[in-house]
Amino acid sequence: MSPQTQAVTGIDLTDLDLFARGEHTAAFATLRAEQPIYWNEGADGSRFWALTTYDDVMWAYRNHENFSSGRGAIVGGSFRSEDDTSAGRMLVTTDLPRHRMLKQVIHPSMSPGVAKRVAKQVTELVAKALERVRATGGCDFSTDIAPELPAGALMVIMGISHEEAHHLIGLTRRMVGYRDEIFVDTGGDARLRLAWLQAEVFEFFSDIVAERRRNPGDDLISTLLEAEVNGRRLNEEEIFYNCMNVAVGGNETSSYTACTGLVALMDHPEQYQRLRETPQLLGSAVEEILRWSSTNAYVQRAAKHDVTRGGIEIKAGDSVTLWNYSANRDEAQFPDAHLFDIARTPNRHLTYGSGLHRCIGAPIAQAELALVFEQIMASGLTFKIAGEVRRLRSNFLLGITRLPLEVV
Ligand code: HEM
Repeated sequence: MSPQTQAVTGIDLTDLDLFARGEHTAAFATLRAEQPIYWNEGADGSRFWALTTYDDVMWAYRNHENFSSGRGAIVGGSFRSEDDTSAGRMLVTTDLPRHRMLKQVIHPSMSPGVAKRVAKQVTELVAKALERVRATGGCDFSTDIAPELPAGALMVIMGISHEEAHHLIGLTRRMVGYRDEIFVDTGGDARLRLAWLQAEVFEFFSDIVAERRRNPGDDLISTLLEAEVNGRRLNEEEIFYNCMNVAVGGNETSSYTACTGLVALMDHPEQYQRLRETPQLLGSAVEEILRWSSTNAYVQRAAKHDVTRGGIEIKAGDSVTLWNYSANRDEAQFPDAHLFDIARTPNRHLTYGSGLHRCIGAPIAQAELALVFEQIMASGLTFKIAGEVRRLRSNFLLGITRLPLEVV
């Protein structure tokens, strides 16, 4: 079947209103049922295949022979339809064999030992934030509590202060929210804006890198400065790119997941109560929150060769998007996928991706999420939503930018 003869037309996965209105869940259900491999012609001029079933998304994640990560994570995020400028230099946009070498360098900074130290730091920050909420009677969870998760992680992984961590979170939040008017002026060329926001993140790291050259420590930046890949040191740009990868990979994902998770629990009070009464369910509750939120809605790959799947011919050079959000709601994999069930087992969600590029920060995110929900439950605080809940304008990261809460 060619893109021209497909059964479903009219769904545009680049339409941010589709996501802002929450209509994407139904759109993906239609696609999974009628056109699981969908040729998307975006109103923004982008053209790509969308894989929507669990099996197809998993197939592409595991198919490194046919799919490259070099084009970057976001459709239309790079200036050319070829590789992103970071390809071969930044972990997430690098293919084998260099990917394996870069991963070996970064992996120790995400070890279970580091996750333990992150857990301690996050516990402290969230406890303080919850005390402030108790004292004032309310908060905006999305800005007052959730960002403490990546802040704690950055403090440990990068060896920076609480203040620096929040400054960096502000920068990456703007970068990820590059199409949202609450973060940036959305006039002009979106790709130029993204490049400019990325330059701001690089500038932040250039000061820290200079400082670590003088005073090395046991943090990621010092590790990158010391590392040799294929017999040579990483250059400054490679160090910036990988610091940015860890910051962007970890800052918004875990905090937005915490927001979506809390809203899910509040929308399902019986599940909230169940978790409060049965703390042993915390582990499966975190997995269900991850599945439900699917914060990183898709990742992009580029086809390296012509490849056929389900009667569809994907041509070499085509962009292919792997929709974690849709795979995680596929009834063929998750019975009653539309139900939020904190005791769901098994729950092999694809929220962290799969295969070689599977999220390297997953142990850190698991620690952050388990802690925040454990502390909320243990605090004995009960909240009600006290105003409009606002979603991030994005089809790439599904986040919440406003979550006003009142203690009841
Ligand atoms: C709930 C939280 C998180 C979600 C939903 C998430 C999601 C993902 C996904 C889907 C990928 C795969 C990308 C691909 O295949 O192209 C990925 C990779 C990555 N993530 Fe995460 N992530 C989370 C937390 C974190 C944290 C806390 C960090 C760092 C502290 C992090 C750093 C990274 C990095 C560096 C990669 C690239 C790995 C590679 O290419 O080998 N992520 N993440």
